[in-house]
Amino acid sequence: MMKRKPLIAGNWKMNTSLEKARELATEIKGMVLDEVNGNVEIILIPPFTHLSTVNGLLSGSNIKTGAQNCSQFYDGAYTGEISAAMLQSLKVGSVLVGHSERRQYFGETNQILAEKVKRALEAGLTLIFCCGEMLSDRESEKHFEVVKTQLDEGLFHIAEANLGKIVIAYEPVWAIGTGRTASASQAQEMHAFIRRLVIDHYSERAGKEMRILYGGSVKSGNAKELFSCEDIDGGLIGGAALESRGFTDIVKAAL
Ligand code: 13P
Repeated sequence: MMKRKPLIAGNWKMNTSLEKARELATEIKGMVLDEVNGNVEIILIPPFTHLSTVNGLLSGSNIKTGAQNCSQFYDGAYTGEISAAMLQSLKVGSVLVGHSERRQYFGETNQILAEKVKRALEAGLTLIFCCGEMLSDRESEKHFEVVKTQLDEGLFHIAEANLGKIVIAYEPVWAIGTGRTASASQAQEMHAFIRRLVIDHYSERAGKEMRILYGGSVKSGNAKELFSCEDIDGGLIGGAALESRGFTDIVKAAL
């Protein structure tokens, strides 16, 4: 089978002062330069306010930056919003779309997310499209159905030619920030299901090439087991991305 390049993305969420962001990016860059030489892509996703600084600090390394969100609108009177084109003008390479915290706390529906996907692609960004069920969905055995709807309505409107710009991240909401990770077999089962959805909607090749990340309480201690699953192509890391040693160890677990 074709080997997909693993990707480790660190989502800093609404954490870090500018000073802390500098420190963290500098430490991670140093550790990665010293310790990681292999086929793995690394993206740091700080808050918007720190993107420019972190981008500058990472020059000379192959670590890239991403943003946590973008607007569904192009530009204009949308106070407080950041457009995909603005991110592109900062030389930010990618953006998270549909993180469960955006869905839960900021009312982002699949329809809004479908628009964000379009804006991000139009701006030439790579996007990490997040999906994942709530605990109640899993308990009532609706988890496959929920994830399928999120992808059908939020992502699968795009043309196959654009799939090279897409990474899917599966993050079960009950595993985010809870210390309760999905077992490797639960994660693998959902990843295989998602890959099958891509194959059914697009093509065998599209499904085989799609990178699907797992997120939800990934730590250096459980990363290896998760990443060794056939359909898990890396991780979207929250809490453990705020600590340079742990994050770099997670990157190494993907090699
Ligand atoms: P934790 O790793 O803190 O569970 O967060 C996962 C996540 O939401 C990454 O986007």
